Amino acid sequence: MRLWMFLTVLSVTVHASLEEITRNKNRGRGSTWWGIAKAGEPNNFLPMSAGSIHMEPVYATLRRKQRRLARENPGVLMSVSRGANQAIAECQHQFRNRRWNCSTKNFLRGKNLFGKIVDRGCRETAFIYAITSAAVTHSIARACSEGSIQSCSCDYTHQSRVSSAVRDWEWGGCSDNIGYGFKFSREFVDTGERGRNLREKMNLHNNEAGRAHVTSEMRQECKCHGMSGSCTVKTCWMRLPNFRVVGDNLKDRFDGASRVMVSNSDRARVTNNAITSNSASNSVHQHRDGLGRRQRYNFQLKPYNPEHKPPGQKDLVYVEPSPPFCEKNPKLGILGTHGRQCNDTSIGVDGCDLMCCGRGHKTQEVTVIERCSCTFHWCCEVKCQLCRTKKTVHTCL
Ligand SMILES: *[C@@H]1O[C@H](CO)[C@@H](O)[C@H](O)[C@H]1NC(C)=O
Ligand SMILES: *[C@@H]1O[C@H](CO)[C@@H](O)[C@H](O)[C@H]1NC(C)=O
Repeated sequence: MRLWMFLTVLSVTVHASLEEITRNKNRGRGSTWWGIAKAGEPNNFLPMSAGSIHMEPVYATLRRKQRRLARENPGVLMSVSRGANQAIAECQHQFRNRRWNCSTKNFLRGKNLFGKIVDRGCRETAFIYAITSAAVTHSIARACSEGSIQSCSCDYTHQSRVSSAVRDWEWGGCSDNIGYGFKFSREFVDTGERGRNLREKMNLHNNEAGRAHVTSEMRQECKCHGMSGSCTVKTCWMRLPNFRVVGDNLKDRFDGASRVMVSNSDRARVTNNAITSNSASNSVHQHRDGLGRRQRYNFQLKPYNPEHKPPGQKDLVYVEPSPPFCEKNPKLGILGTHGRQCNDTSIGVDGCDLMCCGRGHKTQEVTVIERCSCTFHWCCEVKCQLCRTKKTVHTCL
């Protein structure tokens, strides 16, 4: 509730701090908005007298166009913030057993939320861009159908596409508004990524990939209304995937990500309209943005290894190999794996050999207190006991 209040007054105070936005030209300029994930944390709002709130730290993470979008679409900032948090949670889930575990910093003005890994162009960076772009798409599309954004609503465009005479069911109305979510993510998330150098192209490609993974997992859901389940009338609508599905799919693409370089024929035409062709709002987007913006997505990245095939729309792309992430290196924003837990029977990345980078590990017996013997009580409560169990924990030296 408080967060909601904070965000609605965002449009009042405008304090730009451009220096931090331009400082890292190389990485593209579209990443500072992630700081909005921390909008709800008290240290980022300095309450002032008479209930007014000092929004500067969070506001500084937004670019001018992003502030305009927020002003023109009341309700979106709350969804963007929720989306950013969803992206962080999903990233940390997907990478919990890896050397790089997607840890974030407490947001401080001018510092990137994910740390300096973003200044590089490696696979991990690619994942961060894709998952945050996907999360905004997802969160906005859902918020539209839930009625929490003033400028959009449920998607009703399915209803007129096919005459209902050829089906035994009808579109039932409120579909999640993926068209709006997609369009908004392009406008908001891609702000500042002009695609003028390889790194900005990498960001744009991965942002688009994130959105494509949400779009392609939209599913039809139906409900029967006939007498005693006879299903004489069936209504259907399109529903967003669970965000975990998007996270799993993007993690697969991370594992198979393509290293790219700039191609000679940079202007090669790529049909990027296919995935938005079902969105009625897309025409609005193209109308408003004109030709220049559309061309932003018109490039083909070339595989670094000429024997690999060019990256597809849903692939993640990166431009430099990942650092090993083994040792702490504040300059590169790497925490290192000293003290991380590992699995001594696994031969994968969570295994002690790989996780500890050959330094070895120590093994301890620890007593953990866990909920156990849980029983369900009608209705609706789960009661558990607390049990002490001994566990063997391995940690990297
Ligand atoms: C990630 O790893 C670091 C140590 O490398 C640890 O301090 C931190 O708690 C971990 N974060 C998460 C979210 O697992
Ligand atoms: C450790 O790895 C093994 C083999 O991959 C797996 O079966 C086991 O569940 C893992 N243990 C933990 C605690 O994750």
